[in-house]
Amino acid sequence: MSNTVLKLKKVTKLFGGKGDMPPVEIFKDMDFTIKKNEVVGLFSPSGSGKTTFLQIAGLLDSKFSGDININGLRVNTKNDVQTSIVRRKNIGFVFQFHHLIQEFSALDNTIFPLLFDGVSEKIAIQKGQHLLEKVGLAKRMKNRPAELSGGEQQRVAICRAIINEPALLLADEPTGNLDQLTTSKVMNFLIEIIKEHNISAIIASHNPMISKLVDKNAKIADGKIVYN
Ligand SMILES: Nc1ncnc2c1ncn2[C@@H]1O[C@H](COP(=O)(O)OP(=O)(O)OP(=O)(O)O)[C@@H](O)[C@H]1O
Ligand SMILES: [Mg+2]
Repeated sequence: MSNTVLKLKKVTKLFGGKGDMPPVEIFKDMDFTIKKNEVVGLFSPSGSGKTTFLQIAGLLDSKFSGDININGLRVNTKNDVQTSIVRRKNIGFVFQFHHLIQEFSALDNTIFPLLFDGVSEKIAIQKGQHLLEKVGLAKRMKNRPAELSGGEQQRVAICRAIINEPALLLADEPTGNLDQLTTSKVMNFLIEIIKEHNISAIIASHNPMISKLVDKNAKIADGKIVYN
């Protein structure tokens, strides 16, 4: 079995180019590979293309040229149905703003992806409770997002992102709106949980502390992803 979880080949991405707006080339023939269990930090300036890259890698943006392979299989990104199945089976996301469902408790938010996949409620609850305990939220499971701090909400979002054990976790500024101490706690939880579940991950962040926690550091330069 291939050890490569995600492979991008010759990806070119343009924005604009309509009317009198000149096209902006974000990526040009960009190649990128991430292997099983690898954690990559993406640390480059605002506007360099981190979010654009994660959207393409996460099969949320199909407007590019080039190829994407996930677990050795080429994804036809022009086929929305196939793409969304591949995404749901293989990829978890953590965003800067957690996007938790306000009406749901922390536990219900966490187990939602499992219930959506048809897993029984009993098993989903057991798994959700276990994960929330791991990130120090044993006593907060019944609370709704508005009753949790920013760091707690982000920990719930991390649990939700990995509960169905995706091969790949994509995190876009996961601690972007947290203070320094909470950032450090959430980053450590994130890395711990990724390692424990053998997940490959790409974490885009402005925070330099990320570089010490990941296996490899990368940046976007001249339309390519390069390792430092
Ligand atoms: N929908 C869009 N239409 C036109 N240009 C866009 C669009 N989305 C992003 N861009 C441009 O593409 C470039 C890369 O944006 P992107 O959001 O990927 O950067 P980023 O590295 O995530 O930045 P930040 O660190 O601020 O989040 C920027 O110059 C941005 O203005
Ligand atoms: Mg961004």
